Amino acid sequence: LPSVGFVGWRGMVGSVLMQRLQDEGDFRLFNPVFFSTSNAGGPAPSFAEGAGKLENAYDLETLAKLPIIVTAQGGAYTSEVHPKLRDAGWDGLWIDAASTLRMEPESIIVLDPVNRGVIDAGLARGVKDFIGGNCTVSCMLMGLGGLFRNGLVEWGTSMTYQAASGGGARHMRELLNQFGALHSSVLTHLDDPASAILEIDRAVLAQQRNPELDASQFGVPLAGSVIPWIDADLGNGQSREEWKAGAETNKILGTGNGGRIPFDGLCVRIGAMRSHSQALTLKLTEDLPVAEIERLIAADNEWVKVVPNTKDATVTELTPVAATGSLEIPVGRIRKLEMGPEYISAFTVGDQLLWGAAEPLRRMLLISTG
Ligand code: HSE
Repeated sequence: LPSVGFVGWRGMVGSVLMQRLQDEGDFRLFNPVFFSTSNAGGPAPSFAEGAGKLENAYDLETLAKLPIIVTAQGGAYTSEVHPKLRDAGWDGLWIDAASTLRMEPESIIVLDPVNRGVIDAGLARGVKDFIGGNCTVSCMLMGLGGLFRNGLVEWGTSMTYQAASGGGARHMRELLNQFGALHSSVLTHLDDPASAILEIDRAVLAQQRNPELDASQFGVPLAGSVIPWIDADLGNGQSREEWKAGAETNKILGTGNGGRIPFDGLCVRIGAMRSHSQALTLKLTEDLPVAEIERLIAADNEWVKVVPNTKDATVTELTPVAATGSLEIPVGRIRKLEMGPEYISAFTVGDQLLWGAAEPLRRMLLISTG
């Protein structure tokens, strides 16, 4: 069995990855070697039998003995360790959740239900760095791959509704603390059915604007609000998250220079926990009947689920609450827009930690262990 090193297996993405590997019985397919940045020598996790003790995640010699390394440790770790390993001549497979290496010419963004061909061609020509995509992009392509992969998208725009988990575990806690603080500030009013709603609203706003409210992670309150900027300011009016949508979509699809599909939009943080949603406007290359569009979307992979464009189905099946914890990617609100017969809307939701992060890495690991 091949040996596989795991770094960053205890963080949020890493934990979801470990859970998926256990759920699918994957640990029987390789010998796991667990690394730690802080607790080398401590016991390896009990879910993988016989894994021994934790190795030091900065020990290049130990790392370099492994044919495959999977990391969800984050971008700073990747920036520090990956170049040193490569400079030392290590030619193993590096499977990484961080964005650091994603757009490197010699790396491939992994989302095998969508780009297995790109992955296989990369392996065949000796590519060694396989990087998980941005969560919003991966979830979007899992949902709408049927249109993109059939060459039916002339251009697209996405308006996102991104969950707190995209920021990290501390961001999720902060959101809940904020909800709690807002609720506490009006508890007595809420208990009194005769209290004035505008009074409640004033008190909530005062609490949202209270400098004492914990907003250290997001910088501004998210509970009861939205934040229409995610990730760095690129200085051209675009956020890094918005730039990723176009750049990564095209890299995953392998569209190349001539076939680039313009894809752009606005990325917005909302108070959901761990599922990202997005509203899409697509201009198709042809005027297809809605039923045919739905058929192509549904046929693309085994996880996508077309939700009928009715109120009942939408509100029960097409929300973060409905999608979280599942590998299923619901896609709904598919209809023709007034702009013309080639213009359609769609709405899709995906668990940001499953298809958005852990699952493409797990599947790449299985591809590489054969
Ligand atoms: N950048 C994403 C977000 C998460 O902030 O929601 C990781 O892909």
